[in-house]
Amino acid sequence: MNSISSQNPIGIFDSGVGGLTVADAICKLLPSENTIYFGDTIHLPYGDKSTEVVKNYATKITEFLLEKKCKMVVVACNTAAAAAFEELKNKFGNKILLVDVIEPMVNFVAQNFTKNKIGIIATKGTVASNVYETKLKSHHVADVHSLATPLLVHLIEEGFSHHEGSQLLVQEYLRHKILRKIDVLVLACTHYPILKNTIEEFYHHEVKVLDSSEITAQAVKDKLFENNLLNQQKNEATHQFFVSDFTPAFQQIAQLFYGENIQLQKLNIWNEA
Ligand code: DGL
Repeated sequence: MNSISSQNPIGIFDSGVGGLTVADAICKLLPSENTIYFGDTIHLPYGDKSTEVVKNYATKITEFLLEKKCKMVVVACNTAAAAAFEELKNKFGNKILLVDVIEPMVNFVAQNFTKNKIGIIATKGTVASNVYETKLKSHHVADVHSLATPLLVHLIEEGFSHHEGSQLLVQEYLRHKILRKIDVLVLACTHYPILKNTIEEFYHHEVKVLDSSEITAQAVKDKLFENNLLNQQKNEATHQFFVSDFTPAFQQIAQLFYGENIQLQKLNIWNEA
């Protein structure tokens, strides 16, 4: 990791707009950091794909971010982290810093909610991996109940998050018996914070709803600090956005986070003939 300078960018990726919730929190906490975001919209949703396929996507995107000289890659997607984070650490851990969204959330829950009943909502891939149950159990948090809520990703990617139909779908999912009497709900998909208000309203704010954006941003800051790679420059930070396919929702949601002037660059890294 010798040639990496603190001014190099932080690479962040997800299947679509979800990782922007994490990217936004990183930019707010670390305003001097340059970032490169990759939204793999052509392969969305990751949640319905096999582990092998998601591993291939995550590996290729990490290679791309390495070529872009990123000092760190943030896997801002629970599904990709569940499928590929161990492999990414094995392959790239000696070249680049790596942070995911699962580890920081597991640590946060283990520090604050050991005695509580925890609900997890996530994609099918994340739920099938049992990653939260396994990791939380190793921290002695055992009352953990996961439900796959895959349709929420489609609603968000289609720009329907404020539609009343989304409220009905959220209610339908959250009334599921798996989530009965929970104290804490973990939004274990980076798309879901876009529906956080609707979810909190469903619970009348009586269930603690956790999302990984700020928790991950803090983990990014800690890791950069430990490695002496926090950017100390006061110049205005640059933020680049790549998508593997243009979608109107990506443009629209990215503008909500970053303002009208955001420039999306289409780049199909699987097909660069
Ligand atoms: N945002 C991604 C996550 O955190 C998944 C969305 C998808 O299914 O592509 O899991």
